[in-house]
Amino acid sequence: MRERTLVILKPTAIENRIVGKIIEPIEDKGLKIVGAKMLWIDRDLAEKHYAEHRAKPFFEKLIEHITSKPVMLLAVEGENAIAAMRQLAGATDPLEAEAGSIRGRFGIGITENVIHASDSRDSARREIELFFKPEELYTY
Ligand code: CMP
Repeated sequence: MRERTLVILKPTAIENRIVGKIIEPIEDKGLKIVGAKMLWIDRDLAEKHYAEHRAKPFFEKLIEHITSKPVMLLAVEGENAIAAMRQLAGATDPLEAEAGSIRGRFGIGITENVIHASDSRDSARREIELFFKPEELYTY
């Protein structure tokens, strides 16, 4: 099933200059970038994106981190793109993620886990709409 998913390269990824290293396995997997931009996410947008985590104890830290520096947003397309991106990203906690996965390779902290990838078709649709205008997404 051809799908689109939202990927966020979090502030740590930009700060540590590992954008290329993160994009490489995504393209190697056969996934296609159909939208890309940098954005300094404000609190309002961050709270909308992470609305499902509002009641969690880590919510404030999460919002502070994602708004601390610019991020890179990618809309990624391909066969089963949502599951494929989740596999590439690895488990949420970098210490539990497979060593070869993106989160497993770069960093240790769970808040600074380098990358976000949509967890379902509903989330992907909602998150892509939140960050991209239709004309910023390319069909090719
Ligand atoms: P992300 O995929 O962006 O989605 C929610 C984020 O919450 C997650 O990555 C982590 O960065 C962050 N987070 C911080 N603490 C926790 C925790 N204990 N469990 C799950 N997510 C956490």
